[in-house]
Amino acid sequence: MKHVDKRMDGRFPRIRMRRNRQDAWSRAMVSENTLSAADLMWPVFITEGGDTVEPIASMPGVNRLGIDALVDAVAEVADLGIPAIALFPYTDDSLKTPEAEQAYNPDNLVCRAVQAVKKAHPGVGIMCDVALDPYNSDGHDGLVRDGRVLNDETVEILTRQAVVQARAGCDIIAPSDMMDGRIAAIRDALDAEGFQDVRIMSYAAKYASAFYGPFRDAVGSSGALKGDKKTYQMDPANSDEALREVGLDIDEGADMIMVKPGLAYLDIIRRVKDAYSVPTFAYNVSGEYAMLKAACDNGWLDYETVMMETLMAFKRAGSNGILTYFAVEAARRFKKG
Ligand code: PBG
Repeated sequence: MKHVDKRMDGRFPRIRMRRNRQDAWSRAMVSENTLSAADLMWPVFITEGGDTVEPIASMPGVNRLGIDALVDAVAEVADLGIPAIALFPYTDDSLKTPEAEQAYNPDNLVCRAVQAVKKAHPGVGIMCDVALDPYNSDGHDGLVRDGRVLNDETVEILTRQAVVQARAGCDIIAPSDMMDGRIAAIRDALDAEGFQDVRIMSYAAKYASAFYGPFRDAVGSSGALKGDKKTYQMDPANSDEALREVGLDIDEGADMIMVKPGLAYLDIIRRVKDAYSVPTFAYNVSGEYAMLKAACDNGWLDYETVMMETLMAFKRAGSNGILTYFAVEAARRFKKG
């Protein structure tokens, strides 16, 4: 044994780890991490058609919401004490183009949703994804020419996308595209437009993961996607590279950083937190949700306990907060006590 307390001999039977575990009150006293609604952010899929509520086949229990339905749902979010939501638009194929112009249309679905939610519930934070995949006919996060995803030309468009979102009232700009240099470019563009107080949460360590499958169905980008995203998203084999990515984004001006996916990358969250001590968030992604939900719907796992155990794992790994499709359900349980 490495740690031996000389005074106590460091041995059983004097040392009994089970002493502290025997009563609920004593377990509560020694508990090292806590979970509450304040730890959660709720990702929401939005669609046209005011009060539409449209189920997503690969994510049972998750719906696409029209703007009116969204505003209603955010009333509960506010009441439950969930600090923020993240918006993801389902875009009809007819609006997708090779140059993704819809990304910076100030009247696009995301901007209209931000305005409506801000007006009705000003106390709830709104985060918007910055990437071209909902609007690009190639399904990629960046512009594609001659089969290559262009970096600098994409960054140019991302800055315009970020500015229209900020102008609509978005509180947190969240670039999820993994282009190089986009955090600095977006920060400069926001500042130049007077949005120096708009925050940036960078998807700094985002992996080329198969766990995003259900999300791509939910936003309607899976059909369009040609090939994979390995030329910009990270290789799941890498860990040191995540620290470099996060370090760069912090230097470029990110206020908060995200690791994505979450569950299979808890080691990355811990390394990032230890190395930088910055506000660090985990994205408990669509495939992680679907996996757990499917097992529970089959009666193979107990939904409530596994959901809470999963969320606690993110806290233990060092996350300040978790973007999770479980946010509302979990917060309802916290409220009940
Ligand atoms: C797109 C984006 C993705 C997710 C968030 N933003 C998918 C992707 O990169 O292909 C995935 C979220 C999830 O799976 O829940 N830029």
